[in-house]
Amino acid sequence: MPRPIRATIHSAALHANLERVRHSVPDAKVWAVVKANAYGHGIERVLEGLRGADGFALLDLGEAERLRELGWRGPILLLEGVFEARDLELCSRLGLWHAVHCDEQIDMLAAHKTQAPQRVFLKMNSGMNRLGFAPQRYRSAWARLDALPQVDEISLMTHFSDADGPRGIAQQLERFNAAARDLPGERTLGNSAAILRHATDVQVRADWVRAGIVLYGSAPDFPEHGAGHWGIRPAMTLATRLLGVQRLQAGDTVGYGSLFCAAEPLTIGVAACGYADGYPRHCDTGTPVLVNGVRTRLVGRVSMDLLTVDLTPLERAGVAAGFGSEVTLWGRAAGGALLEIDEVARAAGSVGWELMAALARRVPVAVDSAAHGPGCGSTGAPDR
Ligand SMILES: Cc1ncc(COP(=O)(O)O)c(C=O)c1O
Repeated sequence: MPRPIRATIHSAALHANLERVRHSVPDAKVWAVVKANAYGHGIERVLEGLRGADGFALLDLGEAERLRELGWRGPILLLEGVFEARDLELCSRLGLWHAVHCDEQIDMLAAHKTQAPQRVFLKMNSGMNRLGFAPQRYRSAWARLDALPQVDEISLMTHFSDADGPRGIAQQLERFNAAARDLPGERTLGNSAAILRHATDVQVRADWVRAGIVLYGSAPDFPEHGAGHWGIRPAMTLATRLLGVQRLQAGDTVGYGSLFCAAEPLTIGVAACGYADGYPRHCDTGTPVLVNGVRTRLVGRVSMDLLTVDLTPLERAGVAAGFGSEVTLWGRAAGGALLEIDEVARAAGSVGWELMAALARRVPVAVDSAAHGPGCGSTGAPDR
């Protein structure tokens, strides 16, 4: 028997979250961002739920290849463009659209021998100061691309740094609009936070939005808002089982470093999940966990393969727990109770993005294709 830990990907939640994005920006086409192996969910596993997207955006050419192998014939956008000249051959062969963010990428295109001109997304650095041409250099980069026979369509792109916070997107949007004002071509703007928090501005300006974390059911502006506020559902549940129970006396300690010391007699459960599964080691005593759907807390230090939880709230609620009891680390418990990944991430000083993407390879993953969605039973066989 494998260890009882398992992640479940909920196709119906992915589908519903994509609908939520469409509701926010009904006139925009939607890129489903599936970089980092679909934020840890697995590209092949999210395809069913996200098939309604207008295109998929990612970074890795290998992941783009996988999408084509899985039968996706629609648009694929390389968000960082090509990394070396021969990547352009793959773009031609697979019909990939790609971002152009620097002169070197234009040089590679100019030297590329192809019969099939390519569609590119010219990226402006409107304030994030990661990738892209500065606003004052944007038009000359556009003119260079426009003169190349290797390019058949130029779209315009920028990325917001503060859509989730009080600075918002106004300043960057103003810079982008000023520098791009009369340039032809479709515009792609807006990550999840911009889609949810600045829907009107994004809707007016963008032909395409780029939705990432919202599709996976994590709130981009937690803790200001949670997933419930935005009407999104977790696309991943990480669950395991109790392997043991210990009864502590006052003064007993738990785990490496004896970080937790019982103030009074206490029953704890020992769950088959640790940092080698992707659960953050930085989660301290108090991090929320569900046991048999009842909310309780982590106690002591997370170790490589195990973590320990306080069973007192279950005793108080009259819910039995012991060997084999269900432990939900994040997502939806079998009975329907919910633990948002964002709460766990916050306890670890991290964000939902990081926890999802860090799911370890050794965790088997199943796809829940049930139309009624998470928490309602029916999961497929684990596929890794
Ligand atoms: C260029 C670009 N667009 C869109 C996204 C999607 O962001 P989010 O997951 O916040 O929706 C990302 C993710 O980092 C990105 O790098």
